[in-house]
Amino acid sequence: MKLTHVELRKKFASFWEKNSHKEVPPIPLVPQNDPTTLFTGSGMQPLVPYLLGEPHPLGNRLYDIQPCFRSQDIEEVGDNRHTTFFEMMGNWSLGDYFKKEQLAWFWEFLTKELGLPKEKLYITVFSGDKKNNLPPDEESIEIWKKLGVPENKIFKYGSEKNWWSRAGVPDNMPVGEPGGPDSEVFFEFIQVPHDKKFGEKCHPNCDCGRFMEIGNSVFMQYKKTDKGFEELPKKNVDFGGGLERILASLNNNPDVFKTDIYTPIIKSVEKVSQKPYQEETNKQKVRVIADHLKAASLLIKTGVLPSNKERGYFLRRLLRRISVKMLKLKGTTVNASDLTPALKAITEIYQNIYFEKTDYEKIQPIIEEEINRFNKTLNNGLRILEKIEKPTGKQIFDMYQSYGFPKELSEELLKEKGLEFDKKEFDSEFEKHKNLSRTSSAGMFKGGLADHSNQTIKFHTATHLLHQALFDVLGPDVRQEGSNITVERLRFDFSSPVKPTYEQIKQTELIINKKIKEAIPVVFKIIPREEAYKIGARSFFREKYPDMVKVYFVGGYSKEFCGGPHVKNTSEIGQVKIFKFEKIGSNLYRVYAK
Ligand code: ALA
Repeated sequence: MKLTHVELRKKFASFWEKNSHKEVPPIPLVPQNDPTTLFTGSGMQPLVPYLLGEPHPLGNRLYDIQPCFRSQDIEEVGDNRHTTFFEMMGNWSLGDYFKKEQLAWFWEFLTKELGLPKEKLYITVFSGDKKNNLPPDEESIEIWKKLGVPENKIFKYGSEKNWWSRAGVPDNMPVGEPGGPDSEVFFEFIQVPHDKKFGEKCHPNCDCGRFMEIGNSVFMQYKKTDKGFEELPKKNVDFGGGLERILASLNNNPDVFKTDIYTPIIKSVEKVSQKPYQEETNKQKVRVIADHLKAASLLIKTGVLPSNKERGYFLRRLLRRISVKMLKLKGTTVNASDLTPALKAITEIYQNIYFEKTDYEKIQPIIEEEINRFNKTLNNGLRILEKIEKPTGKQIFDMYQSYGFPKELSEELLKEKGLEFDKKEFDSEFEKHKNLSRTSSAGMFKGGLADHSNQTIKFHTATHLLHQALFDVLGPDVRQEGSNITVERLRFDFSSPVKPTYEQIKQTELIINKKIKEAIPVVFKIIPREEAYKIGARSFFREKYPDMVKVYFVGGYSKEFCGGPHVKNTSEIGQVKIFKFEKIGSNLYRVYAK
């Protein structure tokens, strides 16, 4: 059965609704109050506190379709399946049903609701991890057999393949992080030519292109502790399936770029470049442009702007890579308006899902400015490269460092002239200057709950106090724009029509510390969203909230939509100091506190 992405979304939603699940609205691509990561990279990210035991306002059976961005995959994009932006379809049991129901339901969804042929589906399960004392998942094997999957289509793998946590294998998990064995379903694309024998050489997880994973049921039953793995008090299911990949399976074509969430974008790129996607030499470039432009648009929609730091740096990288690929595809530097039709196609594809009609007009100028600026760099670099007769590594590094001229591009253009530069010298220069992206985001890729440590929980409650104190001091026009917590500090962005004075910031700090001294109890209530708005609970405007919400109360002082966790009493927080205050945009301010 061939489906449009809209039809697939509907089928997924009605399937889980029918089985008594509630929809959790997706969180923004840039997560709030999560110290551990720059971007939302998996569907389970907003569920972490609940997987660890916090009660969820919507109950114990949940589903959603979560937009995700994986910055670490930027360089992988170009084959038929990797993308930086993707959507994860998820369902969860929070201590409710477990393996038997989950595997049967997913099987039913794939084979009955979507009509995927059973003979094309292969299964993998966890074979255990002796070192960490984790047993093989015999139970899942039995369940799959009962569902009618022949034994020779069930494959066993160790922790590298069939264990899931945000930090990866059990050995890499920080204390406090939940994880568990998983069972994946793979789709077999028979038209992929392969000469490898089935079995040892070719199997679901090999990379010959014959198979693609389309869904993963994680049995979140463990938590890592100082003493090893402990069973969680409640056993959870965390399922994630790639929307793009399921669509590709329905097309019976392993190229995710041939699904209707890419084809209109690709058509626009083909038209502007006059280069057909079908030609092998163009494919990789067109895919990168399509993926990156989509991811960039969604990041901008979430409030990210190009910069040299953290999230803004990744956005900048996406846009620069688009320029470079366009240059290679077209043969001339890209005119920002070349991207307009593709951008329009993106907003149309996701209209009423992630974009509104007018969004396109707001995104366009941001992309245009960045691309125009980078084009100057490209042109300067190209001029220098043309003159170079004996390239050295340092020269290429200088171009990279001062204009952001990509090393690979230098390499490629020099190669056309039959020249090569000294890579070792480039690398040693690079080491000296230390990669900007690494230092600026150091500590943010640890993965896992480097905390729900006590310190970040304290900062989290302090953020609520800060939010309210800013309202007290600056008035009702203050609006939260973002917040970010690490173990070292909290950071809070807000907009305000007038610039706060030094005294006002001092006064905010005084109020926070006063509230801490008053030793106010912190509690939460689960109430209807409209009621929460009515009582004046603070919310984050970029987030969509479900019908029932969790509201944290710091006594009668602050009320805020929030998943937690928080301290039990403000006295646990200790002294708070605002150590930095800066303007970061028009009417936009940032405070840091520790
Ligand atoms: N959380 C699991 C994943 O991302 C389902 O694969």
